[in-house]
Amino acid sequence: MTCHQKSMPADLIFESLERAAETGTDPAPLVYARLFALRPEFEALFVMDTDGGVRGAMLETCFNAILGLADDAPTQRVIISSSRFSHTAYGLAEADLDLIFGVIRDTVRDLNGDAWTPEAAAAWDTRLAEIAAIV
Ligand code: HEM
Repeated sequence: MTCHQKSMPADLIFESLERAAETGTDPAPLVYARLFALRPEFEALFVMDTDGGVRGAMLETCFNAILGLADDAPTQRVIISSSRFSHTAYGLAEADLDLIFGVIRDTVRDLNGDAWTPEAAAAWDTRLAEIAAIV
């Protein structure tokens, strides 16, 4: 029972990601445009990433964290925690890493269009709070 209740918000997140993928739109440019609109100084950090490979890999890590936390995967907690620390080398505050997760949620919401529901929003809120609590 508990297990089923726990998996419901996770399913909503998974489904919203699937719907976003079904649009055929690459989320990476949308995510980074949003992130750089929020924090323009971040854009210069990727100046060496001429082919977008680093940004793509980073985003994939974020998606894996979002989905992996559904199973309470300890690995994903460690990845988020260590990324908070490793990114201080790029001048980021540890809390700055939460920005991209909010941006990913907003991007997925936009790609979901009318299919975005209050339940999906709530599931994402819960997941983002969970991520923010990982130090
Ligand atoms: C505001 C949010 C973030 C910014 C501005 C940022 C910035 C960066 C930068 C500048 C690099 C490139 C390093 C290089 O060129 O070698 C990088 C790489 C990376 N970031 Fe982030 N990061 C953010 C959030 C995150 C989060 C939340 C995660 C993980 C959950 C993450 C995981 C990674 C990983 C795994 C790499 C290495 C990618 C690769 O080269 O394969 N980042 N990040």
